[in-house]
Amino acid sequence: MSPIAPNSDPRPEALPEKLIVFDTTLRDGEQSPGASMTRDEKIRIAKMLERMRVDVIEAGFPMASPGDFESVQAVARAVRESTVAGLCRATAADIDRCGEALKDAAQARIHTFIATSPIHMKMKLRMEPDAVIEAAVAAVQRARQWTDDVEFSAEDAGRSEIDFLCRIVEAVIDAGARTINIPDTVGYNVPQQFAETIRALRARVPNAGRAVFSVHCHNDLGLAVANSLAAVLAGARQVECTINGLGERAGNAALEEIVMAVRTRQDVFGCDTRIDTTQIVPASRLVSGITGFPVQPNKAIVGANAFAHESGIHQDGVLKHRETYEIMRAEDVGWTANRMVLGKHSGRNAFRARMEELGFGFGSDAELNTAFARFKDLADKKHEIFDEDLQALVTEAALEAGNERVRLAYLRVGSETGEIPVAEVVLSVDGSERRARAQGSGPVDAAFKAIEQILEAGAELKLYSVNAITGGTDAQGEVTVRVEKAGRVVNGQGADTDIVIASAKAYVNALGKLGANAGRAHPQLGDV
Ligand code: KIV
Ligand code: ZN
Repeated sequence: MSPIAPNSDPRPEALPEKLIVFDTTLRDGEQSPGASMTRDEKIRIAKMLERMRVDVIEAGFPMASPGDFESVQAVARAVRESTVAGLCRATAADIDRCGEALKDAAQARIHTFIATSPIHMKMKLRMEPDAVIEAAVAAVQRARQWTDDVEFSAEDAGRSEIDFLCRIVEAVIDAGARTINIPDTVGYNVPQQFAETIRALRARVPNAGRAVFSVHCHNDLGLAVANSLAAVLAGARQVECTINGLGERAGNAALEEIVMAVRTRQDVFGCDTRIDTTQIVPASRLVSGITGFPVQPNKAIVGANAFAHESGIHQDGVLKHRETYEIMRAEDVGWTANRMVLGKHSGRNAFRARMEELGFGFGSDAELNTAFARFKDLADKKHEIFDEDLQALVTEAALEAGNERVRLAYLRVGSETGEIPVAEVVLSVDGSERRARAQGSGPVDAAFKAIEQILEAGAELKLYSVNAITGGTDAQGEVTVRVEKAGRVVNGQGADTDIVIASAKAYVNALGKLGANAGRAHPQLGDV
């Protein structure tokens, strides 16, 4: 066993005013049914989180499957500025697998957990409380052989007995845990009560000063953000959260809401994060596009209406003095007015410069040339190219690169009043062209049936959604489809100015993903 690179010291006395942001979009977020992501998608999100200056990125649960191990390893290799964490149960095998996956990280954290509530210990673990403490201590000690940065989570702490929590927390801090995470796993707590738990732990655990207290709240009662913020007021200095509040069941606390609450109300919280808030909206779009989980229009910070003023009185007020109705500035969280940035006559240098401003660099001239050719194709169909179009272009390229086996080569649809719509499709499958023709209730249905004739995937379509990327009838349509086969759920995306083509691309993308990453374990449904 070889130790991983040491970390900078995250103890609270070194960082009294800093709130550590621990993002778990790639782990807990991915546990939402239908939100599974490929390795390349995870790398893209991780790079975005790094650009946003997230302190800790939880990249996954390496023991879940070989694919999950590879994803955590790839994120650990790709990210240099944020700590990369991996989740593991309190067993030697899980911890060692996690340590292996994180070996190449610039800063690695092992996050080990075991359940501490009476119901979980008795019904799930079938372990006595003393044995749970023993397993937790052994896990932390083993994790410390890999890295100094070890986090311990008391799963279902929100329903655990405070005396037992104090005992286990003291024991794992003595064993070397530097971060103690208190999850409200089932979203059962209310703010006052949850804050009291954090206060009691900090006051009663004798070695509490040697660790950072963290919280991880689920949103089953819609209280994840409120509970997390109450805990911050009670002295928690790490919050675990996800972009758009993605996560198991009703989700986790939303990163954007936590960050903007402490930034906007520093008078109340007395601490701040190091997040670059201008990356919030791009990150929200990226996660929503990749997972196919749309953002509701009235969602705080990242919803389309979050800064829209409909009523005349509000508009008048904002025009006279923006602070009459606005407590934050839209541009501070990354909202930009749809701006025409490039067009048909823009050259390679202008294209490269704008892409670099958006955070997309090119590894080689060949990569730049391929992306530029895509841009020119799009500019032929659409006169004004916005930032959102450029982002979709990158998504498209990444999707195709991640699914080289199957590609949409040709599509023709016939749709006319009084006639049955028909589609003719050619797919390139492993380099050879396969053709099919099918009828459907509409052109999209016909195209999907023709694709199914070729691929014979036998998957059930669970979701189909279309969004216009920008305004105007020449806007690109961004299509997300979700399909399920034998309990496995995956999403596919496609974008095009023609929404039937975008739909066909999305369907091909989803069916292509179905084969990958099969047979993974869920971290919280096992024995330990
Ligand atoms: O909700 C939870 O308890 C978790 C832990 C594994 C941290 O996700
Ligand atoms: Zn969770």
